[in-house]
Amino acid sequence: MELVEKITSLRRRLVPWRRDGEQIALVPTMGNLHAGHLALVREARRTADRALVSIFVNPLQFGPGEDFGSYPRTLDRDRKLLEAEGTDLLFAPQVKAVYPHGQEGQTRVEVPGLSDILCGASRPGHFAGVATVVCKLLNMAQPDVAIFGEKDFQQLLVIQRMVKDLCLPVRVMGLPTVREPDGLAMSSRNGYLTPDERARAPALYRALCGARDRLRAGLAADEVERKGGEELVDGGLRPDYFDVRRASDLQPVTTQDEDLVVLTAAYLGKARLIDNLRVSLTGEASRTEAAT
Ligand code: PAF
Repeated sequence: MELVEKITSLRRRLVPWRRDGEQIALVPTMGNLHAGHLALVREARRTADRALVSIFVNPLQFGPGEDFGSYPRTLDRDRKLLEAEGTDLLFAPQVKAVYPHGQEGQTRVEVPGLSDILCGASRPGHFAGVATVVCKLLNMAQPDVAIFGEKDFQQLLVIQRMVKDLCLPVRVMGLPTVREPDGLAMSSRNGYLTPDERARAPALYRALCGARDRLRAGLAADEVERKGGEELVDGGLRPDYFDVRRASDLQPVTTQDEDLVVLTAAYLGKARLIDNLRVSLTGEASRTEAAT
């Protein structure tokens, strides 16, 4: 597996694949790869002829005081993992290559409506940073398909909307969250947890499962949210939000809505953990539920 850092080298490398009519799948990541990322890479290999992975810790999506400086950078280890998964090409650009005019001078992509709620309310500018870098990566690589995890459900919707609004010629796929045996969603930020915090962290998934059961039992969304928040506090976490939303656009639910998602973010020590669970009230299991 070759590693390229420059945009020109990436484009040169992709030419023969395109000439031969091969389908290319891109898996954008920030590295520090875990089993969740590797599931995306395996899907890339199944879905397309060529699997391209990018590793770029994107400064634009981190706010002041967030963990950009300390975000784990583990390129050698990631490289070996990707090699073992049969990745065709790794693109790991430097910040200067992605933002040649600096971050302030960068043209930005804003996705209104979806970006300033939930995680966007606590992390102003975060989703503009995500949309901007993903748009750039898609333009750099021009893949046929781009694959993301559903753990970042709001991010996935932001990217889907951006691709649609900007008419980008790429299919966006979301894959179910990969979990530890105790239910904790895999995340690069789980590494920030102390052993004691790690033992408490599955409270997040337990609260989501409780919320799913209460919604199915007919409890009102605001009651479900209140109970979920309480469960997080009882589990030793500090909730940022615990919300029931319509899965298609993350708007507050009405009594007519049947395809829901429960989303939560909570602080545990140094880590801000996020997770979500799709809930179908039609009796038909959604993809995420079926996988958990
Ligand atoms: O989910 C991530 O790792 C990042 O937000 C992404 C999509 C690679 C953009 O930097």
